[in-house]
Amino acid sequence: MTNNIFETVRIGRHELPHRLVMAPMTRSRARCSLVDEVTAEYYEQRAGAALIITEGTQPSPRGQGYIDTPGIHSAEQIAAWRKVTDAVHAKGGVIFQQLMHTGRIGHPYLYADGGLPEAPSAVASGMQLFTADQGLLDHPEPRELELDDIARLIDEYTRAARNSIEAGFDGVELHGANGYLIHQFLSGNTNRRTDAYGGPVENRIRFAVELVQSVADAIGADRLGIRVSPGNTYNNMAEEDSAELYAALTEALAPYGLAYIHVLETSRRDITEQIRRDWPTAVILNPAEKPLEEAGGHASALLEAGLADAVSYARLWLANPDAHRRVRAGAPLNQDDPDSYYGGDHRGYTDYPALAD
Ligand SMILES: Cc1cc2nc3c(=O)[nH]c(=O)nc-3n(C[C@H](O)[C@H](O)[C@H](O)COP(=O)(O)O)c2cc1C
Repeated sequence: MTNNIFETVRIGRHELPHRLVMAPMTRSRARCSLVDEVTAEYYEQRAGAALIITEGTQPSPRGQGYIDTPGIHSAEQIAAWRKVTDAVHAKGGVIFQQLMHTGRIGHPYLYADGGLPEAPSAVASGMQLFTADQGLLDHPEPRELELDDIARLIDEYTRAARNSIEAGFDGVELHGANGYLIHQFLSGNTNRRTDAYGGPVENRIRFAVELVQSVADAIGADRLGIRVSPGNTYNNMAEEDSAELYAALTEALAPYGLAYIHVLETSRRDITEQIRRDWPTAVILNPAEKPLEEAGGHASALLEAGLADAVSYARLWLANPDAHRRVRAGAPLNQDDPDSYYGGDHRGYTDYPALAD
């Protein structure tokens, strides 16, 4: 009953061979913000995913929110990522880079200049940064962005997207989910601005829309996707008007003809359905509440219901480099080991076994 997973699907410029997408996962193994050959091997092993979306990658130094996450804002970083894209393409894979600016989910510890993180408003996250040498550090209250800063940020993202293409990526995904910068503009509890970027819904979506416009102009709308997480409370987000907010965002972004929208669903199936109705191109759904061992049947049912064009999983791919083959064969799945999600070496990274040929 999983046959519909193994039908082709068009996403942007690509005709993908099946519908199981690898969702983005931060793995914190990029020392000095540079990916290395172990990371190239990790993604190469997973090139059988219909589409790989990389770990969140900072478009600028201030966009970094965690230790040992990679960047895409320097020539050295572009060259390092090139090894990843070459390895994935050699195996026939398609790979988008997730651009993640964490906004208030940041800390002076991470920045060379020791300055404050930047966010739409000076509202502290209440969260902490994990460090290897100083334990957990409270996030400070971020500096509120000036209007000039917003224009600069859009430039930084746009340059980063060009860098992603130069590094060989097939496209980029803007991380608009999980309480990071774009989401901080969308939600009223993190956006207290009184200018054109805050207040009513049409103002709170402005940053996302201008960003999409700028990046789409730079690399082509069919190489651009956006991830959203309606109603998600992660990172102390508290949207008060999720239905109205995402309806307005979907409506404003629809005319651009992006490659896809990627919906990280936590609790609002009604909003997933609204997005599906109103979105003109592909919908990738990262569904809430699914037992991983039933991923195949679950994905198939979602596709059958017409809720999405493709279904993304994170931990399934983390632990199963050949998840598509296992699902197709109904083979048992490797279980993921949370202790090795972040940091460390190849263990819990490139040593999850594939099925024997
Ligand atoms: C180790 C780990 C790292 C993650 N890092 C990111 C990230 O960088 N960007 C992002 O959008 N989501 C990230 N996520 C969220 C996943 O993409 C996904 O939405 C979530 O794990 C639920 O999907 P799943 O049940 O298939 O794992 C991460 C999840 C995990 C487990």
